[in-house]
Formats: sequence, C-alpha cells, structure tokens
Amino acid sequence: MKIYRNKEEYKEAAARERRKEILEEGQKVFATDVFQKGRTQLHHRGTTVVYHTLEVTDWALRITEALERKGIRVDREEVLISALCHDLGIIGRDEKFANTIACWLRHPKDSVEIAEELYPDMSEHMKKVIGRHMWPATPMWPTSREGWILDLADTIASMNDFFRPNHKHMLGDMPISSLFS
Ligand SMILES: [Fe+2]
Ligand SMILES: [Fe+2]
Repeated sequence: MKIYRNKEEYKEAAARERRKEILEEGQKVFATDVFQKGRTQLHHRGTTVVYHTLEVTDWALRITEALERKGIRVDREEVLISALCHDLGIIGRDEKFANTIACWLRHPKDSVEIAEELYPDMSEHMKKVIGRHMWPATPMWPTSREGWILDLADTIASMNDFFRPNHKHMLGDMPISSLFS
C-alpha cells in the first residue's frame, strides 16, 4: 500500500487514477463520430460538449469516491459509462431540436439510444440513469443512487460552465485540451 506524505499528494494520485480510468474506459465512446463532433459543438458558455462530458465524468467519480469513503456502495462502472454517454444525444442539437425545451426533454432519450448501440447489454437501470439526468430542468428525477450522482455531477460542471466561463477545464490534474493535441 502506497503511503502519501500529505493530503495534496493523495489527491493528486487519486486524480491521476481517475484520469487513467476515464481514458481507458472511454475509448469506445471517444472513437465514435458523434463524440468527435462534440469536440467543436459549443456547450453552455465557453465550453464544448466534450470538455463538459469529461468534467462531468470526473466529478461523478469524485462524488462516487466520497460516498464509498462513507461506506456507501456505488456501481462505479455504471456511473463512469453513464457520465461519458449522458450528453451524446445533445450533439447536433441545432439540427435536431426546434427549441431549448425540446432539447432538454429529448436529448437524454437520444443519449440512451446512442449508448445502447455502443453497449447493447445496457441494463434498464442504466438507461434510467442516463435518461433522467436533466432534473430539475425536466420533471424526470433520478431514481437511483447512480442517477443522483450523475445529476449532481452534471449540475456542478454546468454551474462552472455558466458562472466561471473562463475556468480551466481539468481532468484530474491535466488540462482536458492536452488529450486532443
Ligand atoms: Fe444533458
Ligand atoms: Fe451534461
């Protein structure tokens, strides 16, 4: 077992582990045309769907780790895959949706459809996690622990996008942009 000299060292190591996990587990999603298209689609203010997605995934894992430290069991893989897929359905929004309300209501369902193509064995539970991530913007609230984690992570990342438009987009301790250079 590795001994850390201080809290910072531990946090950095945990961030590096999350980044590694996201990069390994995310390959299937990253390789899709739709995700690549999300690299240039502006999202919220001053970010892209891809940057937002990676930040949501990192936040979702951080929340998962905090709960696990309290002894609360979470399906970590489900959280990770759901976070990576949660906004796939919003890519191409200007061509797909007539207005913002239609986008809020419809894109989670489209995300489920795209995710199902990538993960044909996806459980009904996981479909609900992805399909209900837009509460409270829509009245479909999460119905599971993993669902609440995704919803909260999405809200935190979105608040950062809106209210700190020039914030650094980080994945662990690495700027997200370096993934694509
Ligand atoms: Fe969304
Ligand atoms: Fe989102």
